Amino acid sequence: MAHNLLQGKKGIIFGALDEHSLAWKTALRCVEEGAQIVLTNAPIALRMGEIKKLAETCNAPVIPADVTNMEDLKNLFTKSMEHFGGKIDFVLHSVGMGMNVRKGRPYTDLDYDFNHKTFDISAMSLHRVLQTAYQVDAINDWGSVVALTYIAAQRVFPDYSEMADAKALLESIARSFGYHYGIRNKVRINTVSQSPTKTTAGSGVKGFDGFMAYAEKMSPLGNATADQCANYCVTLFSDLTRMVTMQNLFHDGGFSFTGVSAAIAEQMEK
Ligand code: NAI
Repeated sequence: MAHNLLQGKKGIIFGALDEHSLAWKTALRCVEEGAQIVLTNAPIALRMGEIKKLAETCNAPVIPADVTNMEDLKNLFTKSMEHFGGKIDFVLHSVGMGMNVRKGRPYTDLDYDFNHKTFDISAMSLHRVLQTAYQVDAINDWGSVVALTYIAAQRVFPDYSEMADAKALLESIARSFGYHYGIRNKVRINTVSQSPTKTTAGSGVKGFDGFMAYAEKMSPLGNATADQCANYCVTLFSDLTRMVTMQNLFHDGGFSFTGVSAAIAEQMEK
């Protein structure tokens, strides 16, 4: 059900690859709530992906940008402002890539070229995006930026590997830049720490089905779905959450604050 929460707002959505992507669901919900959007992804993902379908449904242009390329990012913000005829109100950063994980290298035997790439794509990219927006003054006062993260930034999930470190950096950048953008433009910056969700990036983690099932049993409300994540992002882009900034917000059905659940304890007794 739509409530026109984003009526008149304009945003950029990074990271919609296919219909399972958290960004895909969020793009659809933003448009349903009255927003106009620009979609973006890495050029290679655009060639492989199905984003054209989403673009048609959302009546949105697609502007390619590799998040590690400053020229691409500058072009993205400049073209988006041209398209909208003014500044934007919100940004979703839904980008991640674990190179060592992908290549099957364990945490105790990382390749550091891959590791740099992982940090650049998954974490520093948020700084790159924010710095570009800040310097070209692309975001309206009281705008909102959300980046997606995972609880492995705070607690060890061994198979999440180097991505845990990338997420810790991502969350720190949201806090640090949140200060500066807040002072200058009242722009708020938060990370949403989402339950494990079956997507292309999610399924890349070894033993993913196991820890998704574990999280489901540990969370009093169960795992948050991709659609629910999209709803939460909409609230953060809306004017109803104007004073929330520099936070890591758990969207995980209570997983983060549960020590043990009856369901898990029962299983251990078997
Ligand atoms: P996804 O695979 O659909 O999205 C990842 C996106 O990153 C893709 O669209 C991909 O093309 C894009 N990307 C990769 N390299 C890029 C580059 N160099 N430039 C621009 N874009 C690039 O998977 P999902 O799960 O929707 O991931 C979105 C975000 O949510 C990621 O940050 C992920 O870590 C985070 N997240 C996912 C969870 C899950 O269980 N699926 C749980 C918590 C957070």
